[in-house]
Amino acid sequence: MKSFSSRIGVLLAAAGSAVGLGSIWKFPYTVGENGGGAFIILYIICSIIFGLPLVMNEFMIGKLSGKSAYGAYRALSGNNRWQWLSWTNMLSSLFLLSFYFVVTGWCIYYMVEAALNTFDGMEAPQLTAFFNTFEGNAPVMLVYAIISIVLTASVLWFDVNKGIERLSKILMPILFIMLIVMAVHMVFMDGGTTGLRFLFEPDFSKITPKVILEAMGLSFFTLSLGIGALITYGGYMPEDQNVAKTSVQMMVLVIIVSLLAGMIVLPAVFAYGFSPTEGPELTFVTLPEVFQHMFSPSLTSTAFFALMCVAAITSTISVMEVMVAFVCEATADTKRPLNRHQSVIVVTLILVVANTLCILSMTGHADWLTIMGQNMFDNANDLVTNFLIPLGALAVAVFTGWFVPKARYQGSRMASCIYLILLRWVIPSPSSLYSSIP
Ligand code: TRP
Repeated sequence: MKSFSSRIGVLLAAAGSAVGLGSIWKFPYTVGENGGGAFIILYIICSIIFGLPLVMNEFMIGKLSGKSAYGAYRALSGNNRWQWLSWTNMLSSLFLLSFYFVVTGWCIYYMVEAALNTFDGMEAPQLTAFFNTFEGNAPVMLVYAIISIVLTASVLWFDVNKGIERLSKILMPILFIMLIVMAVHMVFMDGGTTGLRFLFEPDFSKITPKVILEAMGLSFFTLSLGIGALITYGGYMPEDQNVAKTSVQMMVLVIIVSLLAGMIVLPAVFAYGFSPTEGPELTFVTLPEVFQHMFSPSLTSTAFFALMCVAAITSTISVMEVMVAFVCEATADTKRPLNRHQSVIVVTLILVVANTLCILSMTGHADWLTIMGQNMFDNANDLVTNFLIPLGALAVAVFTGWFVPKARYQGSRMASCIYLILLRWVIPSPSSLYSSIP
């Protein structure tokens, strides 16, 4: 990983981190559960007003300090008082990856099954049943989760940012084109308009504090905020990188991909008789159905799930990198410093354990992990998206707004003034939302 070789490399890595399962898997079902259009408007507003300055902020913290999340807060504030935030980042990364790798495993499994032509002729009830059977099968799910952990670890092991850069340069545009083709296909098919209306006709009566919080959580999740991932990437940026431009490009890309995924999955929901509130399996049950009505179903669906795997892995890389960099830097001054390879091994083992627990809990093999009536997968997903990431992001805003000497801000006075007002006053304000949720 070390450092990026080119500006386009940074953009690709940042976009690779941002565009992932958040847009393709989480966005459609969260929109479905929260009533459609109004939620999407909130999502876009949150991304522009809160998300964008926070993306710039995390990049700047990394770029100015040249450190990852572990060392950056200390380097910029000049004291140790913000060290807890790096530990929180580490914990959030761990929780995030304990469900994210499970879903990445689903993508690999679906890619294999698509190649074997399993979905041929299946309709909504069979596809839902197929998913449920798979979701009850702990060994198979575990094997695929471990494959995705090992794939990510091997990228971090070999300093192959060149390989990743080149790979994403080719594959991300293909994913993008496939999404556009599929969205156009869905929009023009019979029954597709109901889905579009659900997506784009806002019903503002559906907005509650919880919905606002979910929109903010999802926006921060898709922008890779709140756990120090962009700080770590900022630390690898070349000197002449334009942070503001990279951030805007990244945000626009993420919003477009999320909307495209919504335009594929939700019309399919209405056209083929699924339920928009189905939850996390929504993308996985609807897509195989969509492909059956397209050109060469087996080939297209295999290709699509393969691209989804790539999108997922470029995201897991950025989160696991936070953990690996943390372990390296945190042990550097101790008696037993771990080098990069050793850190990758330690983090891999921790993640295998976390994912195993998560899968055991999902399949009913570990009832002690059921908390508040939900299994560990759902709890980790909710905790990270609606709590740890928003709070991590708000804490970083307070940190830069109030505790980093002003002399460190760069750029024009006007821009830094707006930026400072946002960081100090505007962004921390949503924390009051927590108090209004029953
Ligand atoms: N943004 C990615 C997605 O949408 C997930 C992700 C990668 C992430 N890095 C992150 C989420 C850091 C939060 C923080 O799939």
